[in-house]
Amino acid sequence: MSIDSGLAADACVALDRIWIRLAVHIRAEHKVVFPALAETHSDLRAPLQTLHEDHDYFMASLAGSVKSMHGPSPDFASARTAVEVLKLRLAAHNALEEGGVYPLVDKLPQEQLTPILGQVARELAFLPPRYGP
Ligand SMILES: [Fe+2]
Repeated sequence: MSIDSGLAADACVALDRIWIRLAVHIRAEHKVVFPALAETHSDLRAPLQTLHEDHDYFMASLAGSVKSMHGPSPDFASARTAVEVLKLRLAAHNALEEGGVYPLVDKLPQEQLTPILGQVARELAFLPPRYGP
């Protein structure tokens, strides 16, 4: 195994782990958090759509990065650029979630909030088998 192929394999594992952690976060938001907020806050339609589009971008970008690192000629430059672009979009995404969306979750009535938090915790803990310690 050459140094590059070893590094490419390590990069694939790292990118895949990022993809998995982000995917379960997205799954929890799509299945639990966003529907609960959409039900109670009709004014969140546009921000939630933006967050959905960001999620689609993140998943596609990371999947593409993993793919670009496979094979006999791993494309380190493309993967690095994709991660840098993703980091910038993720910063804006997190600002929108943390500034405009999650504070509204905290304001939900306790009887609505408690099951939401339980469902989110279950979604975050439900990882694919390949995600080992
Ligand atoms: Fe998100």
